[in-house]
Amino acid sequence: MNTNEQNKVLSQDNLKLTSAKSAFDYILNLYQQQPKNFDNSYIGIGTGSTANFFIDLISKNDDFKRIFKAAICSSNVSEQRLVANNFPIISLTDFHENSPKIFIPFYIDGADEINENLQMIKGGGGALTKEKIVATMSQKFLCLADETKLVNKLGKFPLAVEVLPSAKYLVIQKLNELNELNELNELKNIKIIKITERKNFITDSNNLILDLHFANTFDNQQAMILEQTINNIVGVVENGLFTQHSKAADVLFLATQNGIKNISKE
Ligand code: A5P
Repeated sequence: MNTNEQNKVLSQDNLKLTSAKSAFDYILNLYQQQPKNFDNSYIGIGTGSTANFFIDLISKNDDFKRIFKAAICSSNVSEQRLVANNFPIISLTDFHENSPKIFIPFYIDGADEINENLQMIKGGGGALTKEKIVATMSQKFLCLADETKLVNKLGKFPLAVEVLPSAKYLVIQKLNELNELNELNELKNIKIIKITERKNFITDSNNLILDLHFANTFDNQQAMILEQTINNIVGVVENGLFTQHSKAADVLFLATQNGIKNISKE
């Protein structure tokens, strides 16, 4: 490497692309080793700028179109991008009780924050509910991220909560009450300092998004409890915490200025 190359700082987009390429190679490599493991499989595709890099890569590759019967997406916007690129898609609503079991070996998506324990905050793009559905249906969540997304503790990035419009008032009230209940449970020290409603935004399911801003960050155990506690509020559809309680990532492809670092649970 010459000095110019050594000093070159990669942009965030370049890092996102590097991460996407690395997951792309990982899947292709597994397929080449054991093609039989991919019989009748679908690929789960997430939402956001990092997922878009992955969509563009697989759309240009005939192998991926052969390996996977179709993509199952976490948002309309990702579906549209795949369709525009002639990659076959199928919607979750196309399946019914008599459909054969859907096999999704991988779900590929970005994150707003991820920790070393592979818990994430997602939902910056507002697609968190379908992201969690497709991710949970998949065998492995492959998270694509540039190094700015890796944090020691989650909680600095506002936590998106998808809420039924008719329950907005109740949910805000219950979330505010959580602050007072904190002393009674393991969430102590966690304070919601502000709740904002995402303006001019409705989800693919016609719901609204509230963003929770926290005074402090939370540890792994607290992240799991918080995910469940928020989801227990009537009118909450889902929240953007992806922990071992629902679906954490299985492999993180972390693109850094010094190359790719893989972090996995195995
Ligand atoms: C979409 O709702 C989110 O969960 C995204 O995965 C997350 O916001 C990451 O987005 P970027 O890939 O655009 O950084």
